[in-house]
Amino acid sequence: MKNRIIGIMGAIPQEIDGVVHLLSNKKEHKIGNRIYYTGEINNQQIVVVFSRVGKVAAATTVSTLIIKFNITELVFTGVAGAIHPSLKIGDIVLGRTLIQYDMSAEPLFPKFEIPLLKKSYFDSDQSLLDISSNAIKTLLEDNYLHHVIDESDLNKFDIHSPKLHIGLIASGDLFFSTTKQKENLQNMLPDVLCVEMEGAAVAQVCYEFDLPFTVIRTISDEADEEATIDFTKFIEKISNVYSIEIIKNIIK
Ligand code: ADE
Repeated sequence: MKNRIIGIMGAIPQEIDGVVHLLSNKKEHKIGNRIYYTGEINNQQIVVVFSRVGKVAAATTVSTLIIKFNITELVFTGVAGAIHPSLKIGDIVLGRTLIQYDMSAEPLFPKFEIPLLKKSYFDSDQSLLDISSNAIKTLLEDNYLHHVIDESDLNKFDIHSPKLHIGLIASGDLFFSTTKQKENLQNMLPDVLCVEMEGAAVAQVCYEFDLPFTVIRTISDEADEEATIDFTKFIEKISNVYSIEIIKNIIK
């Protein structure tokens, strides 16, 4: 059997800093303007990297993880804006399926379809989904969050009993900061739970390399006019901690 090597990716440094700190025997590798950290968590070989924001940055980074570091699976962790009204800030979305909402080569190809690939939707790996879902449930149950995040920070973001949602994530090269953008996406794709800027690009590359992946997103904002208020603070105080705890639970 192939040696497992798990790639862990985020878009910005604050999303993966905490995970980098979990590595033992840590080494840095600079390739293509990114730093890939190799090491171990619980004797499991890991490569951690932040890609920078957007689909191109993410696709390039995951390709390097696959080709240069021989990863056998990929976990993407980061934040997203809520699109479905059932979501609240502090909830977690696991992407069962991902779509690039800004892909359209109409009328040559159907809207959202990746030209010549005949695919619009990319599915995450069921076994990684199950492992991640259990890891997230452990974090969210029994008030565990209150042991790892300051009460004042949870209150500041109005996080009381966050929930796990599993479903469709939409990705594109736009940060949503108006209600109009949000409503457009809701009308185009009513099943979408949340919006972000990398997941479906990562999903496409993993599909093409036949690599199991999963995308885990903490809801940082409601993809509206208030989306940028406290964005960085949320990542530092809340989602960074979520990522550390979820990764620890995944790699037990
Ligand atoms: N990631 C986190 N919040 C987002 C938003 N509002 N739009 C796009 N990506 C995001």
